[in-house]
Amino acid sequence: MKIRPEQPGDVETIRLLTQAAFKNAPHSSQTEAAIVDALRDAGALTVSLVAVEGDQIVGHVAFSPVTINGKDADWYGLGPVSVWPDRQAKGIGQALIREGLGRLKQRGAGGCVVLGDPGYYGRFGFASDPGLRYGDIPPEYFQRLAFGPAPKGEVAYHPGFDAG
Ligand SMILES: CC(C)(COP(=O)(O)OP(=O)(O)OC[C@H]1O[C@@H](n2cnc3c(N)ncnc32)[C@H](O)[C@@H]1OP(=O)(O)O)[C@@H](O)C(=O)NCCC(=O)NCCS
Repeated sequence: MKIRPEQPGDVETIRLLTQAAFKNAPHSSQTEAAIVDALRDAGALTVSLVAVEGDQIVGHVAFSPVTINGKDADWYGLGPVSVWPDRQAKGIGQALIREGLGRLKQRGAGGCVVLGDPGYYGRFGFASDPGLRYGDIPPEYFQRLAFGPAPKGEVAYHPGFDAG
């Protein structure tokens, strides 16, 4: 498996992949594919990676800027992340997430947040922080990975997340 940044010819496959991955996912809004498109259209897909096996795209991960207390802080939100249902639980998602986090760190980002299952994201170093909040989401489901000093405040995702 190879991981590389998305290319213009990948857009349709990423859309179908995202729809398929989230079709039966718990807590899905079924808007995840539209969110990826909206982020791309807004130039907010800061890191967008695909996992490729042979000539097939098997997974995708997106990272986009978030604000903290309304200000750009060079922090990013992880997601959506998608693996085709018949390819899940084979390490593809983890490989995409690790590569994406590495790229963010390399760019000098301050850190990354994620909304999701703590049991899954804890393995990458994400942890909840009572000082960094996302609305009234229970803290255990909203986690952060700081590459430097951890800021405090209220996080907002890019407006592309309202798509769909
Ligand atoms: C979540 C997702 C991206 C993970 O990718 P993946 O390639 O299937 O998972 P990996 O092989 O990297 O990781 C497998 C491990 O994660 C666990 N896991 C997978 N999905 C999980 C989830 N949603 N919650 C908790 N644990 C999960 C597996 O049990 C396995 O655990 P183990 O390593 O302790 O055995 C993928 O399952 C997917 O596309 N799911 C549907 C869409 C979704 O829910 N995306 C995340 C929300 S943004």
